[in-house]
This record gives sequence, C-alpha cells and structure tokens, in this order.
Amino acid sequence: MAAVRFDNVVKRYGPVSVIEDLSLEIKDHEFMVLVGPSGCGKSTALRMIAGLEDVTAGTISIGDSVVNDLQPKDRDTAMVFQTYALYPHMSVRENLGFGLKMRKTPKAEIDRRVNDAASILGITPLLDRRPKLLSGGQRQRVALGRAIVRQPAVFLFDEPLSNLDAKLRVQMRAEITKLQQRLETTAVYVTHDQVEAMTMGHRIAVMNAGRIEQVGTPLEVYDRPATIFVAQFIGTPPMNFFPAKVRDGRLEAESFSIPLGRSIPSTDVLVGIRPESFRGSAAQIQAKVELVEMVGHEAVVHLRAGEIPLIATYEAHQAPKLGETTALGVDVARMHLFDKSTEKRI
Ligand SMILES: Nc1ncnc2c1ncn2[C@@H]1O[C@H](COP(=O)(O)OP(=O)(O)O)[C@@H](O)[C@H]1O
Ligand SMILES: [Mg+2]
Repeated sequence: MAAVRFDNVVKRYGPVSVIEDLSLEIKDHEFMVLVGPSGCGKSTALRMIAGLEDVTAGTISIGDSVVNDLQPKDRDTAMVFQTYALYPHMSVRENLGFGLKMRKTPKAEIDRRVNDAASILGITPLLDRRPKLLSGGQRQRVALGRAIVRQPAVFLFDEPLSNLDAKLRVQMRAEITKLQQRLETTAVYVTHDQVEAMTMGHRIAVMNAGRIEQVGTPLEVYDRPATIFVAQFIGTPPMNFFPAKVRDGRLEAESFSIPLGRSIPSTDVLVGIRPESFRGSAAQIQAKVELVEMVGHEAVVHLRAGEIPLIATYEAHQAPKLGETTALGVDVARMHLFDKSTEKRI
C-alpha cells in the first residue's frame, strides 16, 4: 500500500490545457474521491496515476517513487472502469485470473487469490459463467474482483457505478466503501456524482476546469465551501444564492438588513443559504410558495422572494401550502458569504 502524490502536475493535449498545476496528496489507506462536472479532468488525472496518459509537467509519485517514467504494468495500480471491460469469451474465473496469469503468477497462487476475491464479493457461484450471462451488478463485481486479485498498492476507480440503475448504484456504493475499509488499500475514486463523493470519500477533491477548488472531508466541504463553485456543486437540493452588500458591519439584502457580528470590509457579496438552513430569527424573508414537492420524510418547497427563486426544505407535515406567503428565517450563522468578484468564501 502506498500514498499517491501529484506535485504541480500539468497535462496538455497540444495547446489545450486539461489539467493546470494540480497538487494533491492522497494518504496511505485513504479513500480519496475526485468529483466534478463532466470534462473537468477527473479521468485524465486518474489515468496519469495509472500511466495510461503521460504527464506534461510536474511529478506523480506512488509511495516513495516518482512514477512519471514507469510503464503502467510497473506502477502497482489496478483500475476499475465504467465499462467493465470483461473478456466475453472467458469465464468469470478466467477473467479474474487473467492479469495474474499475464504476470506469470504460479497457478496455485492464482487459484487462491481468485477464490478469495470471489468469496469477498459473493460471486463464488458465478465463477464458471461467461460475462454475458451475468447481470450488470454481477459484472461490476467481477470487474472489482479483477482489481482485488492483483493486490495492488492503489485502487483506481473511474465512475464504476455509472452504468447501474439507481438502486443497485446505492448498494454497490456501500459495497465498495466496505471493501476499501476491509482491505485498507489506498483508493482514488472518480465520479461526477456529488452524493457518491460525499458518502464514499474519507476526503473529496472538488475539481473544476482542470483545477482543484477544495480538498477536505465531506463535512468540511459541505459546511465551509471555499468557493461559489463548490457551494453550488455540493448539496442537494442546491444552495440558494442572492446578492447583497456588506456596509458598515451590516449585511444588506433586498429584503432585510442584519448585523454581521464580525468585521468584513465593505464589498458586494453573494449570500448562500442551504435549503435546510432557513431557520433562526435574526431576520425574515417573505416568500411566496410556487411548488411543493413531497419527498416523504421532507417537503422540498420552491418559493419566490421578489425576483429571487429559493428552495427550502421542511419536515413534511410543517410545509407551507401552495400559494401561501411564508416567512423564511435567516441567521448570519447559517449563511455563507462569498466575495462577488473573487468568488471565494469570506
Ligand atoms: N486525447 C485527448 N485529446 C484532446 N483532449 C482530450 C483528450 N482526452 C481528454 N480530452 C479533454 O480533456 C478534458 C478532460 O477530460 P476528462 O479527464 O475525460 O474529463 P472528466 O473525466 O472529468 O469528464 C475534456 O475537455 C476532454 O475533451
Ligand atoms: Mg471521465
């Protein structure tokens, strides 16, 4: 097992810069999730660890070694892809053992590792089947098994659950998390799904356009998003935003003015409030209910305050009714303030 480090890594395709100055340390035994929208460079970053893409500048290290010039097969990583990439003409057993066979592992050792992995993943009864006779979830388990048998220093996952239906995705998410807890192998997991990131990662790195915007535990990132981008990307329903001004120690928005309780230079800000955070009594926003979505345990209520659309969540039985005007409580302690020009947290 090993730590993984990016030091000032740059990746360009010709003139196009895809990764800009990426530095990140993934600790030994850590489950790190790279999360961000499609095209932000997640797969490229992962493929550079595996050696499937070379690095334009900077270094990537696994353990104590810089691996920039190592062949993929010499890097001791195992990757699980979105498309399971199983060999159709081989049985599950052969698929699991193939990588080891290529590395000239003795047959008895292959058998032992394949049987162990199959047992961990609950696929022992499937060992003699061909992939085409398996369900999507079973195929994904085989793809995981193929990574496990290698006993690599680092697992690399590239959106491995994207092809599964919603229910199976939630189940496999928990299985992969438990698997990593059990094996303690360092893992780098790429996804565009912020719920996957929040639920699986020891830490998450939120990426945007080839850069890391923030690295932290899921709760750190949720509670103190460093930028407007992170605040918008993490959390569902998403954080509400509206413009305001900081003047003489007060926050002045269209519908309220409250003391900030800390000294901030006068500036234009965006105020962010999570849908569950319209509580408190410092001030109120009058808002008209435009839509009520009953989710079961809670109601997601869409409102409008003047021109500003807002979403607030309520305990299901306490939600205001469609067409009503209701008062949303706001409190400085539950607000996130971002500088309008730098887009950074204040
Ligand atoms: N071989 C390539 N040549 C040129 N551009 C590429 C190549 N591979 C990826 N890209 C570009 O790099 C960016 C990042 O891609 P990728 O790492 O696959 O993003 P993600 O996995 O976050 O969706 C995208 O804009 C993509 O079009
Ligand atoms: Mg990708």
